[in-house]
Amino acid sequence: MSVSASTKALTPPAIAKAKGGTPIVCLTAYTTPVAKLVDAHCDVVLVGDSVGMVLHGLPSTLGVTLDMMILHGKAVRRGVSRALLAVDMPFGSYEEGPDQAFRNAARVMAETGCAAVKLEGGVAMAETIAFLVARGIPVMAHIGLTPQSVNAFGGYGVQGRGADGERILRDARAVAQAGAFSVVLEKIPDNLAARITKEISIPTIGIGASAACDGQILVVDDMLGAFTDFQPKFVKRYAELGATADRAIAAYAAEVRARKFPAAEHVFGDLPKGNAA
Ligand code: KIV
Repeated sequence: MSVSASTKALTPPAIAKAKGGTPIVCLTAYTTPVAKLVDAHCDVVLVGDSVGMVLHGLPSTLGVTLDMMILHGKAVRRGVSRALLAVDMPFGSYEEGPDQAFRNAARVMAETGCAAVKLEGGVAMAETIAFLVARGIPVMAHIGLTPQSVNAFGGYGVQGRGADGERILRDARAVAQAGAFSVVLEKIPDNLAARITKEISIPTIGIGASAACDGQILVVDDMLGAFTDFQPKFVKRYAELGATADRAIAAYAAEVRARKFPAAEHVFGDLPKGNAA
């Protein structure tokens, strides 16, 4: 049975087993109402550290804290009943070593009720991933363009072009070998993503990668067109919520200024005569 047909709550082993089947559908969510909408259609809901840029106006994901991830993780948990819930480990909460990673990942799992954590890094994180997995913490890995390394990369450019593809391939092999149950491939060439998907035993989840990946993920606000000024090449907009909201707010402002809102149907009458409380 494909993972999408399952009515049971999805687990990391169920997602791992979906490799090569019907593509695994993933989106981010950061709040309860959006989590409910996403849960109705997706197999994985990720509380991404993109929350820092999307909801908090931060310039990158580097300023996101463990407390922020836990707060949003708890909110999303209340909206998810079928999809697998994964929460991102923020910058600085796991890179020091396996002990730090375990301490913080265990806190994230205990306080949010998520079933897995995601962390960025390939070969350099393999020991940490193996340590977490051996202690009951399912890990979704994330390689290619890893936004927490924006300063080291010098920007958000495509990773793994030409000979650099070998580096990404080594990362993919390392996280699969370490026991990650799936791996996000972000912003790498189509042919490299397809090669990795063919070679490794765990599902690949693409974002700016390839239709050949075992699944796809997008930031929910990006695919809903919530921002009028941001559209990376790898995002397809399925709605224009930003433009719709802009029109609605402009209409409200105009009606308030013209005393057209509130109208009679939005205000309350006084008590009928002789009925004063
Ligand atoms: O933080 C995030 O939202 C992510 C996904 C886009 C993969 O890491």
